Amino acid sequence: MAKLQHVIEAQQFTLPLIHELFQTADQMEKILERGGTLDYQNKIMASLFYAPSTRTRFSFESAMYRLGGKVISTEQAHLFSSVIGGETLEDTIRVVSNFCDVIVLRHTEVGAAKRASFVSSVPIINAGDGKGGQHPTQALLDLYTIYKELGYIDGLKIAFVGDLEQGRTVRSLAYLLGKFERVMLYFIAPDFLQIREDIQDYLTRHNVWFTLESELNKIISEVDVIYVTRIERERFGDKADIYEETVKNYFIDRETISKMKEKAIIMHPLPRLNEISPDVDSDPRAVYFRQTKNGLLIRMALLTMVL
Ligand code: CP
Repeated sequence: MAKLQHVIEAQQFTLPLIHELFQTADQMEKILERGGTLDYQNKIMASLFYAPSTRTRFSFESAMYRLGGKVISTEQAHLFSSVIGGETLEDTIRVVSNFCDVIVLRHTEVGAAKRASFVSSVPIINAGDGKGGQHPTQALLDLYTIYKELGYIDGLKIAFVGDLEQGRTVRSLAYLLGKFERVMLYFIAPDFLQIREDIQDYLTRHNVWFTLESELNKIISEVDVIYVTRIERERFGDKADIYEETVKNYFIDRETISKMKEKAIIMHPLPRLNEISPDVDSDPRAVYFRQTKNGLLIRMALLTMVL
């Protein structure tokens, strides 16, 4: 098994590593089905979350318990750790890494996980750093979901919809998809929420086809995946009317999905706000809750690879 030192950004994952991760996640599913655990009872995972999380924190903690390991945790590190007294992230990491075998870190600042990796004596896993940073483990579980649901990634046509400017899951997934053959990426958003130039430059440098569009309707019948992200109200300040119009323009309801391919899928990293109508949930193409289950498997697999 390949050994990972840290999990910081999506770009670090090569195609062989991604394939190995998927195979390990498949094995984790079989182990879970048998009700088994692995031999990690002497290992401790610290989850250090400076920003709110439901899925990432619970799935990492569940993954560690399912492996037979132990968890120490602070879910509001900005309130309940020595940071409140002015301790730096670096000092906190130097100390916490003495108490555990791996640290899962969510932070409000872009680049925090990388900074942590420079001073940590144990592996750091980036569980999301800042708005517009990265969320590599989410992107890996997204990619695994696409692979499991559709059976292919090469040749994929995917539409990203919503706040692509700050959406760290979209940014990380774009980096990963750029490693595959003949993928086509459609970034669907108004100008002020469009994907940033750093991702566009990366895709251009790697000869990945992409286009920036503002209307989903134009391409909805062509794509294999619609990947929807949150549009946060606070991004619009006092411009409530523009927020309402933007949400309405990109809202996914039963009429929208009636135009999708029969085998296409709708994904969302969750939590959702007003992006997808709840009556879409029962459509077999809505995979966002299955996506969260895959998060457990991918995070079990990642933990085995870093430990
Ligand atoms: N998708 C995701 O990162 O969800 P949480 O913020 O609940 O962890």
